[in-house]
Amino acid sequence: MMRRAATNPGTDRHTGPVQQVEDWPAERLEAGSPLVPPPPGKQVLMQVRALTKAFGPRRILRGIDVDICAGETFVILGGSGSGKTTLIKHLMAMLTPDSGSVVVDGLDLAKATPEQLVEYRKKMGVVFQNAALLNSLTVLENVGLPLTEVEQRPADEVRARVVEALRQVFLPADEILDLKPASLSGGMRKRVGIARAIIQKPSIILYDEPTTGLDPVTVNGVNELTLQLQQKLGVTSIVITHDLDAAFMIADRIAVLYKGRFIAVGDKRAIGDNPHPVLRQLLTGSTTGPLTEDFLTAKKPEGAPS
Ligand SMILES: Nc1ncnc2c1ncn2[C@@H]1O[C@H](COP(=O)(O)OP(=O)(O)OP(=O)(O)O)[C@@H](O)[C@H]1O
Ligand SMILES: [Mg+2]
Repeated sequence: MMRRAATNPGTDRHTGPVQQVEDWPAERLEAGSPLVPPPPGKQVLMQVRALTKAFGPRRILRGIDVDICAGETFVILGGSGSGKTTLIKHLMAMLTPDSGSVVVDGLDLAKATPEQLVEYRKKMGVVFQNAALLNSLTVLENVGLPLTEVEQRPADEVRARVVEALRQVFLPADEILDLKPASLSGGMRKRVGIARAIIQKPSIILYDEPTTGLDPVTVNGVNELTLQLQQKLGVTSIVITHDLDAAFMIADRIAVLYKGRFIAVGDKRAIGDNPHPVLRQLLTGSTTGPLTEDFLTAKKPEGAPS
């Protein structure tokens, strides 16, 4: 089937020369990006191979092949429901692949023992899409949880590190330490979630839409924090975002998820110049293109207004 690939390149903020818009057949649109060797001097940290996952009859991931390098900031873009959260749940071993593998630092996550997974997760901070705070615990207890539960640190040290983590996400510790999540605004909850993710000084951080719902100043703060953690501590970050400015500010490489595969993986320039119609539509925000085609061509229900 031929698909319409019309986005308006004139509205594209992230490309140089205006691209020729063309029709791409479905196989070409959905083809996975070839695996490229890591850039010189970089080491592969996470190796994802032929990863597939279905929920019932719905094939969400259909063959993910990617290498993520130590110390890089790897941004994942993709339409809503494309499987981004599902993919990073595999990277944190919260989900097991139907087939294929995720190998981190030599450890095949699907074959790891529970003890190995505990050790693996200690190295990892996770910012969940919905903040995922425990409602019955205060901010101090929520953010300090990894230190009290996993590391059994003394209370005064926990408090000092929580205050410092909150400061890094521009939250007033004195005012909120003893509040429960329900008394915080959505944006504050999000930032408390980020504070909890960084408190153990992890070497890998997974961010699932860390800046959605935050004001522009805090958005910048969170982006700068990601850059600082990378530059000062060599943290590897994997960031799902819908914020293109953020993506282009922080990414070493960007990958685009579509129909269960990474259809494009590359540095900012390669992504900016890539004529792939899905990429162009994501970057322009156009409502015309492959991402919306299925909805536009779907049959309207009987009686629906035309
Ligand atoms: N545990 C589950 N059981 C059944 N279906 C699921 C499950 N988790 C995810 N899905 C389905 O998998 C698809 C991808 O979901 P996922 O949350 O990974 O999307 P996403 O790319 O993160 O979207 P968004 O940008 O909206 O967060 C969706 O259609 C969702 O309904
Ligand atoms: Mg998601």
